[in-house]
Amino acid sequence: MTPTTAEGGVLQKDLLSMADLDAGAVRSLLDLALWFKAERRAGRRDTRLAGKTLALVFQKPSLRTRVSFEVAMSELGGSGLYLSPQEIRLGERESVADAARVLSRYVHGIVARTFLHEDVVQLAEAASVPVINGLSDTEHPCQILADLLTLRERYGELEGRTLAFVGDGNNIAHSLMLAAPLVGLGLRIATPAGYEPDPGITRLALERAEASGSELRLLEDPQAAVRSADAVYTDAWYSMGQENERELRLPIFQPYRVDAELLRAARPGAVVLHCLPAHRGEEITDEVLDGCQSAVLDQAENRLHVQKAVLSVLLGGDRD
Ligand code: CP
Ligand code: NVA
Repeated sequence: MTPTTAEGGVLQKDLLSMADLDAGAVRSLLDLALWFKAERRAGRRDTRLAGKTLALVFQKPSLRTRVSFEVAMSELGGSGLYLSPQEIRLGERESVADAARVLSRYVHGIVARTFLHEDVVQLAEAASVPVINGLSDTEHPCQILADLLTLRERYGELEGRTLAFVGDGNNIAHSLMLAAPLVGLGLRIATPAGYEPDPGITRLALERAEASGSELRLLEDPQAAVRSADAVYTDAWYSMGQENERELRLPIFQPYRVDAELLRAARPGAVVLHCLPAHRGEEITDEVLDGCQSAVLDQAENRLHVQKAVLSVLLGGDRD
């Protein structure tokens, strides 16, 4: 069988936030991504996006997001057009809405990487083509889909499993909080005081967790978060755009470093996740990042397969 649609779930024109997806949409996107992964391994080609162009409008640097989207488009028969921060100068050279309307006359979809989440939202409102959030200061939904795929490959069903996220209450933490309850994954987030996730996102995530009966806890103690967890996730202590806070944050975040000792508190063999890029020796040690429990390269690879699933649903006209 060749799956072409994300069946059973709601998927609108755009993918801006994990809040845009319900449990059925996540499940079917992951099924589709697994199918694309198996097809690629078998050496089979699928050119369902032939003739389609995806614009990549990036205000920040990228390795994984840019390359995986461009390769996904090319392997599906289409093409990607990368527009660096110097070219579009979103909201500076012209308004976000004008750029969206113009791009919609040329391309079939837009991936945007922005500082302000509001810029991705405005792009989507003005664009007649699908807009995908390729990371904003608030969320990173494509990354979290790849992370769920990675955990599903390791554990099969995620229901009843527990993930600990240790570090900054950032875009990764936000998208994880909104996603975990959809797949029944328990989530404990440990952040220093003052670096907790956004209260609005926390409220929505707690509602989702209550509805699905899954654990969602916000803590300060990293040991308590990691205790007996099936997986441990960390990310940079300062995100893109916050580099000038490095010196301020380093001492505050020291107790949140994922090292061999903290990892020992997790379930034996617990999977280690990091979205990358890593600041080695800060939020994670070399020993853990390169160790046998680390799944970070699978996470990075899975970006490609998940991106294909998202693109084929949003650009391929296969949406229900
Ligand atoms: N994980 C991730 O989004 O990596 P890039 O910033 O390199 O795209
Ligand atoms: N929180 C990080 C994620 C990078 C993929 C950042 O926004 O820089």
